[in-house]
Amino acid sequence: MSYIEVSNFSKSINNKFIIQDINFKLEQGEVLVILGKSGAGKTTLLRNINLLDLPNSGRLDIDGEIVYNSNEPVISNKELQKRHKLIGLVFQSFNLFPQYTVLDNVTLALKLNNKKKIAEYRRKIKNRKEVLDFSKKLEEEVFIKASKILNDLDLGDKLNSYPYQLSWGEQQRTAIARALILNPKVLCFDEPTSALDPSLTKEVISVINELKNKKQTMIIITHEIDFAMQVADKIIVMDQGKIIEEKVNYHE
Ligand SMILES: Nc1ncnc2c1ncn2[C@@H]1O[C@H](COP(=O)(O)OP(=O)(O)O)[C@@H](O)[C@H]1O
Ligand SMILES: [Mg+2]
Repeated sequence: MSYIEVSNFSKSINNKFIIQDINFKLEQGEVLVILGKSGAGKTTLLRNINLLDLPNSGRLDIDGEIVYNSNEPVISNKELQKRHKLIGLVFQSFNLFPQYTVLDNVTLALKLNNKKKIAEYRRKIKNRKEVLDFSKKLEEEVFIKASKILNDLDLGDKLNSYPYQLSWGEQQRTAIARALILNPKVLCFDEPTSALDPSLTKEVISVINELKNKKQTMIIITHEIDFAMQVADKIIVMDQGKIIEEKVNYHE
């Protein structure tokens, strides 16, 4: 079985197929690029893979686990949230919180998660000091992890900056760091280079190449053939909700 298997994904809205019978496989560390005209269904496919929307039919397997199966009984929101973390998504508009620093934007999800852990711990362990030590330890771990990811993305000196103080590229890297901190099995990008000038496009390509060198499995939607040819191991082309072409990209 492959690392990621998308099987028979279909989604219809108002009885009209937006994506129809999508199938592909991806190995760990590979990069899949999705090409296609505007309106082809690329974003919808990515949102369904991310479980932001649920496909009407289909199955998603990641790393030997069934992440979604339309034949399965309805999954609870809690379970959905857990599975959701397996798949990271970097939005086109980044969706950073303007009132939070880089560090806070990146650590927010983990901190919320830790709050739950601390509450559970408190219920079991009544000793106040122990609970405090536990929560300090978690806080420290989050800081160390975030600092490492931010350093690796060249944001080591921006921990306390606010989004408005960052360049476009720094904002994008913050959004990438925020996704990476949850250790996603696959990281998805929706048009990371759209409407960029060539120097920024180069910056994005270099970050994505670095992630690829670290064996981060990725799915990337783009319009740009040059970019696709540089980073992709596999390419699928979509049109009217279907895959009309699929190829392996041999890098020379
Ligand atoms: N929530 C929705 N309701 C109705 N139509 C939608 C919805 N989401 C997407 N569509 C339609 O589905 C088609 C594919 O959209 P999208 O996935 O955004 O394409 P792409 O990302 O390839 O440009 C478009 O025609 C779009 O208008
Ligand atoms: Mg789109």
